[in-house]
Amino acid sequence: MDLNLSSRHASRLIFFEKLGSTNEYLINQAAIEQSLWPDGSVVCAATQTEGRGRNQRQWESPPGASLACSILIRNPQGAAHWYGILLAMAAAKALSRQEVAAGLKWPNDVLVDGKKIAGVLGQAAKDYLVVGIGLNLKPVNIEGSVSLQDLELNQDFDFQLAAILAEFETLRGDYQLHGVTAILEDLRDISHTLGQRVKVTTESGTLQGLATGIDSEGRLVLNHDQKISAGDILHLRGTE
Ligand code: BTN
Repeated sequence: MDLNLSSRHASRLIFFEKLGSTNEYLINQAAIEQSLWPDGSVVCAATQTEGRGRNQRQWESPPGASLACSILIRNPQGAAHWYGILLAMAAAKALSRQEVAAGLKWPNDVLVDGKKIAGVLGQAAKDYLVVGIGLNLKPVNIEGSVSLQDLELNQDFDFQLAAILAEFETLRGDYQLHGVTAILEDLRDISHTLGQRVKVTTESGTLQGLATGIDSEGRLVLNHDQKISAGDILHLRGTE
């Protein structure tokens, strides 16, 4: 695969036609051969056989239908979850530049018109972390999902990967130079969760309320005072 555009935004870029999981591969390789895998290394694949999703779920990457990519962050600054948020913001921004109103469902699902087009998974190791994104190029037969093809957008792997990596580079630079304040306003603007009634499933149970904020730690604020650091959320519509 020709990855000329994308390789400009990676310190090292490796492509696999088929791989178990790009996150898993990169997290293991980065520990074994540190010098071969500098900060900003990228591993991508056209198909994953054991793609991982959030909360121990699987992530479907059928052949030719999906873009799977993982980025290595050595010595991350601040809390690890910010890098997952940055990657989701990068994808939403990249899509917005293609004239699509993309946004985020907290914490890091990328949505277009309420449907999921990309998901992000961060995995931390000792002194590094890997953030991975799966983007639907073609329809993937999962309820509530949408693809670039559905939206009549460019489905070229290299074009889309380069667009995401370029935005990520900029966002990461801003975050690492100026901290959370540099990205928080953008994050709140991009959020499709804020202002919605939501149902949140956390480890300690389920709660419902109005999403009123995202605080400086990236937590979702419900009804102005309930802070949620991790969970799965559902945007409730109408009388739900
Ligand atoms: C989710 O929405 O549940 C997160 C999905 C993350 C999928 C990506 S695809 C590239 C990287 N490798 C994996 O195994 N998972 C992430």
